[in-house]
Amino acid sequence: MEAVIARQYGPPRQHEIAEVPIPEPGPGQIQVRIAAVSINPADVRLVSGDFRAAIDLPFPHIPGNDFAGTVTALGEGVDRPVGEGIGHDVGGGASWDVSGGVGAGVGERVGAVVVGGGGVVGGGGVAGASGDVGAGFGEGVGGYSVGDEVFGFATPRALRHMGSSSLSTGALAEYAVFEARTPFLAHRPPELDVEQAAALPTVGLTARALMASADLRSDTHAGRRVLVVGATGGVGTTLLPLLAETGAHVIATARPEDADLVRALGAKEVVGYGDYPAGVDLAFNVVVAGDALDGIAAAVKPGGRLLTITFPPPPAFDGIDVRLVLDMEGRFGGMAEVAADAVAGRLRARIDRTYAFGDAVQALTDFAERHKTGKLVVRVRSRA
Ligand SMILES: NC(=O)c1ccc[n+]([C@@H]2O[C@H](COP(=O)([O-])OP(=O)(O)OC[C@H]3O[C@@H](n4cnc5c(N)ncnc54)[C@H](OP(=O)(O)O)[C@@H]3O)[C@@H](O)[C@H]2O)c1
Repeated sequence: MEAVIARQYGPPRQHEIAEVPIPEPGPGQIQVRIAAVSINPADVRLVSGDFRAAIDLPFPHIPGNDFAGTVTALGEGVDRPVGEGIGHDVGGGASWDVSGGVGAGVGERVGAVVVGGGGVVGGGGVAGASGDVGAGFGEGVGGYSVGDEVFGFATPRALRHMGSSSLSTGALAEYAVFEARTPFLAHRPPELDVEQAAALPTVGLTARALMASADLRSDTHAGRRVLVVGATGGVGTTLLPLLAETGAHVIATARPEDADLVRALGAKEVVGYGDYPAGVDLAFNVVVAGDALDGIAAAVKPGGRLLTITFPPPPAFDGIDVRLVLDMEGRFGGMAEVAADAVAGRLRARIDRTYAFGDAVQALTDFAERHKTGKLVVRVRSRA
């Protein structure tokens, strides 16, 4: 099969599309023919080498976390409901090293949770010892057949030590193998086309977790001033409509040329990067590094809350409630809940641009080097 591969640490322009063997599913795993993939910051950062002290990435490496595709082969036990299946060994043979986490983090739901100055919402912990990963997941997790349409989020197997229950061989390929028993994979409803299904996993899960953590109810929070820093990105463009729906007065950061876009997504006010208003009730940081939050914290009025999703974990700030939102276990819902919200029209990713598979390296390069407003999606195969 063809896959995007990195042969060494470096920027995505050094990646190439090459022939590699089709991965075969082991016990508890499914093989998926990939239809579409969306790119996230972690896809680029992991291979950049920035985190090599914490994560020793084996090469060649195939990037790609968020995907949609069709199940083409089953490993032992994945056609049975959770609880009846066999224990499985995530990561294709190696046992789990429940290390308690690596502090560096690479964004996107991959680092084990480290408590910062504030609290951690949805934090997580690691899912037990070897063979115990499925324990605790709800009904309906797993249980796949050949031909099923699926979508979801899975991190590279090299991150198995860092707390993710959802691992894969890398989605930017014609085929990939995934762990079946994770809440971060689900059946793709027919109402959700493959590009939207590939765009939604990480940003949908994250927006849901942020909304649950903010506890913004329309009956008590209408008119509340809410700042979103990073509003033009994948997470930000997914989050804005959810906030607007609550009746909150949403203030979004954007470049001048993106002001109309964020207004169309629900922002009532637009401010420049770093140009924060004073006295907001609630701030969401979905882009600035966790050790550079002073300006955003200063915008929050005493007694207000700052929810952030970036590493490193945030410090404490006097007089406000600061929390890192990182849901490693699907505590705020997994992919089935993302699918249900999407079908109900409550959740949608903004797709900035779609690329053919032959341009996948360009898509990764554009993601790393160019401005974008929403998700970049790669079509791996034309729709059957
Ligand atoms: N904790 C979690 O569960 C979790 C989940 C998902 C993502 N994350 C993390 O969240 C961050 C955002 O993810 P994403 O997928 O939304 O990224 P993204 O698609 O790259 O979006 C980032 C957006 O923010 C803009 N931006 C850059 N610097 C800014 C600044 N100083 N102020 C305001 N806006 C700025 C960018 O525009 P420009 O082109 O102008 O730079 C871009 O539009 C990443 O660090 C990611 O690792 C964490």
